Amino acid sequence: MYPIWEVPNLSAGIVLALMATFHILPSHLSVSAIWFNVYVETKAYRENRPELLEFIKKYSLLLLVFSYVLGSLSGIGIWYSATVANPRGISGLIHNYVWGWATEWVFFIIEVIGIFIYYYTLGKVDKKTHLKIGWIFAIGSWTTMVIIVGILAFMLSSGKWPETGNFFDGFFNQTYWSQLLMRTTLMFGIAAAYAIAVATRIKNADVRAFITKTASRWGIAGLILGSILFLWYLKTLPDANRMLITVLAPQGLKTGIIVSSGVLVLYFIYANVKPLGIRLVPAILAIAVLFGGIWSTERIREMIRKPYIISQYMYSNQIIGKDVIAKGVSAEAKIINEKGILKFAPFVPDGLREINEGNQVQVGKMIALIECSSCHVFDEKGLRAMPQMVKRLGFKEAEAVEGFLDGLGGYPYMPPFVGTAAERKALATYLVSLNK
Ligand code: HEC
Repeated sequence: MYPIWEVPNLSAGIVLALMATFHILPSHLSVSAIWFNVYVETKAYRENRPELLEFIKKYSLLLLVFSYVLGSLSGIGIWYSATVANPRGISGLIHNYVWGWATEWVFFIIEVIGIFIYYYTLGKVDKKTHLKIGWIFAIGSWTTMVIIVGILAFMLSSGKWPETGNFFDGFFNQTYWSQLLMRTTLMFGIAAAYAIAVATRIKNADVRAFITKTASRWGIAGLILGSILFLWYLKTLPDANRMLITVLAPQGLKTGIIVSSGVLVLYFIYANVKPLGIRLVPAILAIAVLFGGIWSTERIREMIRKPYIISQYMYSNQIIGKDVIAKGVSAEAKIINEKGILKFAPFVPDGLREINEGNQVQVGKMIALIECSSCHVFDEKGLRAMPQMVKRLGFKEAEAVEGFLDGLGGYPYMPPFVGTAAERKALATYLVSLNK
C-alpha cells in the first residue's frame, strides 16, 4: 500500500475509469479495424477495384495514429493510474498473471510492428504478401484480446482460483467465454463507426458508398450479436455481482446502454440506406454515442465488482479479504484488528500512528483515507461524497456511528471495517465531524 492518491471530487478510481473507457475505443478498434481492412483489400484484388485501396490507406493511417499512438499512450495511462490508485491490486494481478501479460506483449509487438509494415508497404509489395501481412496482424491482434480478457474477467469472477491458486482456473473463469465473444462481436460495431467516419473523407462516391454500406452491415451485425452475447454475459455473472446491478447501478447508466445501442443501430441502418447522406460531424457524434455506451457498461462493471478489486480475494481498499491457501496468502482482518490499521499500513504520517485526545479527527481521517477512499471522496461533492452520506444518515453520536461501522461488512458492496476499538472510535469521531 502506497500513500493515498486523493483526487478532489472525482476519486482515483474515476480517473482510471476515464482512461480505461477511452482506451476501449483504440484498443478494440485496433483488433477489429484490420479485419475490415483485410476484407476490403481482398475484395479490391478479387474484383479488380484498386480505387478501394484509397480507403485502406486512410483507414490504416487512422488506425496507426489513433490506436497505436493514442491507444498506446492511454494503455500506459491505465498502468500508471492503476499502479498509483491501487498498487496492491496491480501487484496481485502481476503475481498471478505475469506470464499472461508477457505472452500478450509478444502478440502486442506483432501488432505494433504489423501496423507500420501494413501501412507503409501498401502498394509497394505484391498483393499476396500484403494480404499476408494483414492476416498476421489481424490474428496477432485478436490474440492479445484472447489473453487480456482472461485477466480482466478474473478481476470480476475469479472462478476456482481462490481454492486452487491455478493460473488457468482463474483465467478461464465463468465469465471468460461470454466476455471474449461479446467483445469480439461488439468490436465490429466500433470498427464500423470509424470506417464510416473515414469514408466521409473519400471523394470517389462509389468507394464511399461501398465502404459505408459494408461497414454499416458489419456494425448492425456486431451490435445485434454483441447485445445477445451481452445478455448471455449477464447470465454468466456470479449471483452476488448480478444482484448488485439492481442495488447499485443507477438507472441513468442502464438507460445509457440501451439508448446508445438503439441510436447506433438506427444510425447504421440509415447509413446503409443513404450511404452518401452521412457527413463527418454526425459520424463523429456517432462515435461519441459509442463512447457513452461503453462508459455506461464499464461503470456498471466496476460497480458490481464491489467490494472487491479482485473477486473473492482483495477488497477495493487493498486489504486482503479471503485466504488463498494455495498461494500462501491469508486474510488480513484478524491481524489488522489486533495490530491496528495505523500500524499495518506502511505510509502513515508521523504523529498519527498513536491515537490521543488531540488527534482523534486527523487519525480518523487517515483511517477513512486508507479504508474508504477507494470508493468515497471526502469533499462536499463528488463520487459517493462522505459528507453527504453522513448528513443523510444524520450521524451525530460517535457511539452510534461505531455501531454502524461494525455492520459495514453487512452491506453487499462494502468491505468490513477493520482496526482496533480505538481506531473505530477515531473514525466515528471524524465521520461525525463531517456532519456540519
Ligand atoms: C468497495 C467500495 C466501498 C468502500 C471501500 C466503502 N464504501 Fe461505503 N459505500 C459504498 C457504496 C457503493 C455505497 C452506496 C452508495 C449509494 O447508495 O449511492 C456506500 C454507502 C456508504 C454509506 C451510506 C450507507 C447507507 O445506508 O446509505 C456510508 C455511511 C458509507 N458508505 C461509509 C463508508 C465508510 C465509513 C467506509 C470506510 C470504512 C466505506 N464506506 C467504505 C462503497 C464503499
